[in-house]
Amino acid sequence: MYDAGKVITGIIVFLILITFPFWFNAASGRATYKPDPEIITPDDQCVETAEYMKRNHMDMLNQWRDQVVREGQRTFVAPDGKTYELSLSNTCMNCHSNKSEFCDACHNYMAVSPFCWDCHIEPQETTYGYK
Ligand code: HEC
Ligand code: HEC
Ligand code: HEC
Repeated sequence: MYDAGKVITGIIVFLILITFPFWFNAASGRATYKPDPEIITPDDQCVETAEYMKRNHMDMLNQWRDQVVREGQRTFVAPDGKTYELSLSNTCMNCHSNKSEFCDACHNYMAVSPFCWDCHIEPQETTYGYK
């Protein structure tokens, strides 16, 4: 006959082992960790809505580059009619100059490392005196 005590102990040990990754992550706070890009800009709006930017900024930057390099077109007209220079360093990074706490906060979490900074000038980080 089998030993009920040992079987139950065995089952409990087994359950602890297979669920280890879940409660380990929960205990260490990793299950709920989300990157928290810090928005510190001199202006209170982006060139498009935040929702749009979150999803499309990579494609938008490619489009901006193509427009400048292939068509010599350097002006972006935002939905609200405001105009901006089509420029990674002069436009995006002029507002989002805290690259390490903004762009990199998301990119490090997602393990993407855009190679743009091989050529484009990284911003002088500033918090505009807000911090
Ligand atoms: C005039 C200042 C300004 C410029 C220029 C600007 N941004 Fe923004 N950006 C902001 C502000 C302010 C927000 C937050 C807007 C909000 O919450 O409604 C933001 C939001 C974002 C977000 C969403 C972040 C999040 O977590 O919600 C991304 C991504 C982003 N910007 C990338 C860019 C890129 C890439 C460029 C250049 C193509 C750019 N921004 C140009 C001011 C700017
Ligand atoms: C809210 C999070 C978030 C913020 C803030 C953010 N990014 Fe991104 N970015 C992403 C994600 C996610 C991807 C990867 C998308 C994919 O792989 O499809 C990405 C991809 C990119 C890419 C394409 C990289 C590649 O190798 O394909 C560029 C360029 C880029 N981001 C530029 C920027 C710049 C410049 C800023 C700061 C002004 C910025 N991003 C801020 C989330 C963010
Ligand atoms: C091998 C060097 C190199 C790399 C890497 C590179 N670029 Fe560029 N980029 C250029 C040059 C050169 C221009 C043309 C500059 C001009 O005419 O103002 C340019 C122009 C641009 C422009 C329009 C003008 C400006 O001043 O911003 C954008 C936007 C742009 N690139 C985005 C990107 C993004 C996003 C990445 C990374 C995914 C990237 N580039 C990587 C060399 C590079």
